[in-house]
Amino acid sequence: MAYVCSDCGADTLKWAGKCPECGQWGTLVEFRESRSKSGGKKGKTRPATVKKVDISKDKGKNSVRMKSGIGEFDNVLGGGFVGGEVVLMSGEPGIGKSTLLLQVALSLAQGKKVLYVSAEESVDQLESRIRRLIGKKSVKFQDNLLIVDDIEIEPVIKLIEDEKPALVIVDSIQAVRSQDSESYPGSIPQVRICGGLITNTAKSLGIPVVIVGQINKGGRIAGPKILEHMVDCVVYFEGDEFNTYRILRSIKNRFGTTNEIGVFEMGGGGLAEVGNPSKAFLDENNELVVGSSIGAVVRGSRVIFVEIQALTIERDVEGVPLRRVANGIKKQRLDMICAVLSKRGGVYLGNNEVYLNVVGGFNIDEPVIDLAVCAAIKSAVKDKANSRDEVFVGEVGLTGQVRSFINLQKIVKEAKKLGFKKIHAAPAGGKSESLVSAVKSIRSL
Ligand code: TYD
Ligand code: MG
Repeated sequence: MAYVCSDCGADTLKWAGKCPECGQWGTLVEFRESRSKSGGKKGKTRPATVKKVDISKDKGKNSVRMKSGIGEFDNVLGGGFVGGEVVLMSGEPGIGKSTLLLQVALSLAQGKKVLYVSAEESVDQLESRIRRLIGKKSVKFQDNLLIVDDIEIEPVIKLIEDEKPALVIVDSIQAVRSQDSESYPGSIPQVRICGGLITNTAKSLGIPVVIVGQINKGGRIAGPKILEHMVDCVVYFEGDEFNTYRILRSIKNRFGTTNEIGVFEMGGGGLAEVGNPSKAFLDENNELVVGSSIGAVVRGSRVIFVEIQALTIERDVEGVPLRRVANGIKKQRLDMICAVLSKRGGVYLGNNEVYLNVVGGFNIDEPVIDLAVCAAIKSAVKDKANSRDEVFVGEVGLTGQVRSFINLQKIVKEAKKLGFKKIHAAPAGGKSESLVSAVKSIRSL
């Protein structure tokens, strides 16, 4: 007998109140592996087949991609679906997973057969959503879009084998169940068995499948970690509940890079592709107000310009901890930047509360945004606005040096296109620059 953590999917032989892997309390549940047909008895072992690798000819398996027709989505996959590819899509409830996948299904169904397994919503609910998505457009999909709201996986697998659709969508893995397990849908054994059955079917028939996976409170995909290992591609759909912009990014991709992102805007008629994300993340106002700056990040083939806003408040009450709030970058990063600014950047923040926000609900982990954060905070403290024509680019180290950025040329090219006039950055070519001079120094584009 073994125990499995229902939160992170770790296995352990001994029961404990706390998961040894993720440290959550009360999440270990009993898990019985089903016995093999031979009952564990030793029999004659079938020899494994050795296959030769031949790279002399390009069989073109991975180069033939099936495009969904939704460019931002195809980009994230690496140019469309590869035959037999299994994609796991996760994201917070209500972020738009079902909406996006239904749009993908409708787009493909105009020429190809698509199976949508709606285990969470009834066909009636899906129909009203389709009506909303299509609106007044005349879209012909009726014969090609097959919808089932069966939650049992075996009949669904049979249907896939019979119909051989071009794409299968399973919404969601936590809502389907197999006859082979008595556990409830969403439990570890069920997710394991259903995930395995779907993956095998996709591989054996060469049909791409998208599986929706819910996430738990910690932000991880609920169910065993093995699900992430089983699939070829894991994409994450994120956004902020107060904002209409949504970002699709891949965390794992066996058939492409994990750098590309897709940007969408949720509106009355579903998700619209956002071709120029910088427009979405820059505040509409022409002039920058005190406390803002513009930074840039490179994601895959794209450069995205973002506005950073900072607010600082001086406190002279002793013994009360100063607040530092970061929205869109990590709080630890903000703390570090404040420390560097105080010690090496000539902007003392020892008495200041600092609030920081990345406009548009964009989350940035890349350190290249550091200099823009410094510029926004400095502007707030000195009460002097930055110019809208300037971009701040570079990672700030503990020594107060700004490192030159490897993709600076890409940013410079894109910045010119968007009409920026000046850039603050350590010059390309490896030399770093002091923070004070990087913020001060301006180069014309
Ligand atoms: P949904 O796709 O159901 O999210 P998920 O499958 O990730 O749980 O998204 C539902 C939200 O999207 C819901 O709050 C309503 C909103 N929505 C729109 O704003 N416009 C639309 O055209 C549609 C279909 C949904
Ligand atoms: Mg849904």
